[in-house]
Order: sequence, then structure tokens, then C-alpha cells
Amino acid sequence: MISKKMAGSINEQTNKEIYSGYLYLSMAAYSASIGLNGFANWFKVQLQEEMAHAQKFYDYIIQQGGRVVLKAIDEPPKDFAGARDLFQKTLDHEKMVTKRIDNLVTLAKKENNHATENMLQWFVTEQVEEEASPTEILQKLDIVGEDGNGLLTVDSQLAARVFVPPQK
Ligand code: FEO
Repeated sequence: MISKKMAGSINEQTNKEIYSGYLYLSMAAYSASIGLNGFANWFKVQLQEEMAHAQKFYDYIIQQGGRVVLKAIDEPPKDFAGARDLFQKTLDHEKMVTKRIDNLVTLAKKENNHATENMLQWFVTEQVEEEASPTEILQKLDIVGEDGNGLLTVDSQLAARVFVPPQK
């Protein structure tokens, strides 16, 4: 069993994970609109990852006898300032998500809730990757600078990304 407070906080995080997916879908749409289809692919895979994160939280609430409560998803931004801006905003967003996961861990520790703390460790590890990927792509984009050919090379690398469902 989990406390009402813990279930409420995980419900809120479920909403934020779905919002993350919505944000990345909006980034995919923007990428497609400027002809960067590899970027669009990367963000569509990211949408799938975020939905998998949301489902992990959803399943956990039910498994622990809590009630899943779905709330409205905020409207994501639709306009971005080019390729670099997309990944800077991705990194900023993921840093915010990491803080939220850390706060959940703090709450689980405070409640002496080892099961939830254990479940959250998966997300702690996942967030390392969630920050590392956009950081690496930003570094590539900085090397490329204003070079169109370089940008198209990065685009074809991002086109190769495929969704790998997370381990249970
Ligand atoms: Fe669900 Fe991108 O963290």
C-alpha cells in the first residue's frame, strides 16, 4: 500500500510524463515542418519512451492499491528556434524532470517507503540517460555550427533511432 500523498505525487508525475511525450511530439512536428525528418524520428521515439514511463507509474499505483487519477495535459509550445533550440529545450526539460524524480525519492524516504524508493531508482538511472542524450546531440550541433551538410549528417544519425521498450 502507498499513502494518499505518495499516490497523489506519482499521479502528478504520470501527468508530467505524458506532457513530456506531448512536448516531444510537438518538437517532432516542428522538425518535420523544417525538413529535418531524422530529428522528427528522434522525437517520436522520445514520445514512446515518455509514454512507457507514464505507464510504469500507472502500473505501480494500481499494483500498490492506489487510484489512478488522470488530469488534463498542458498544451506544449509549438514554435522553436531551429535545431539547437530543440535540444537545449529537451535538456532543460529533462533537468526539470530529474528534480521531480529526486523530490519523489525524498518523499519516499521521508515516509520510510522502501518499495516506492526502489521503484523510483529505475527512474533515477533513466534520468542520467535522459540528460546525456540531448547533451551529446547538443555537442554535435555545436561542432556543426552553421554548416548545412553537417546538420544533414546529424539528421541522418537521428533517423536511425528506434524505440526499445524499457525492461520491467
Ligand atoms: Fe520521462 Fe524524459 O523522462
